[in-house]
Amino acid sequence: MSTSPLVVLVGPMGSGKSTVGALLAERLGAPYRDTDADIVAADGRPISDIFIEDGEPHFRALERDAVRRALAEHPGVLALGGGAILDADTRALLAPHPVVYLSMDVEEAVRRVGLNTARPLLAVNPRRQWRELMDARRHLYTEVARVVVATDERTPEEVAQAVLDAL
Ligand code: S3P
Repeated sequence: MSTSPLVVLVGPMGSGKSTVGALLAERLGAPYRDTDADIVAADGRPISDIFIEDGEPHFRALERDAVRRALAEHPGVLALGGGAILDADTRALLAPHPVVYLSMDVEEAVRRVGLNTARPLLAVNPRRQWRELMDARRHLYTEVARVVVATDERTPEEVAQAVLDAL
């Protein structure tokens, strides 16, 4: 049977997609799923290895397929990887769905994520790279989202409540 998510969370890494997503799932009594985990489970390698060994375009193609599959079959809360919105086909897939953008300003991102080597896009100078990343992506998150929820200076519980209020 074909079904679709109650809510799809997008936003930069560190914006709280998985924490808020799990809280939302609990509150809605619905399952939680995350496309990064789907990709890792299917491929068998951590995301950082897929990036290093096969390159970002290959990862984005795997991600597009994972998003397509999850949108078609997941009935609960779905979180996407922070860069999923870079792919035009992935953005088009999101159009019919209730997408929520968890936004976060650059200083908050540096505080929360800093220089986390498990996240391959932030190897050096995290503040400058965060600024560039957000400048390149902000309009794409906004383009796919029906609702924007700011996460700065809010707890995951407060963000989850704001998402529920907005849905
Ligand atoms: C990425 C974000 C990561 C993961 C990959 C690339 C990005 O997901 O998909 O490392 O391009 O911003 P999270 O946002 O869940 O950390």
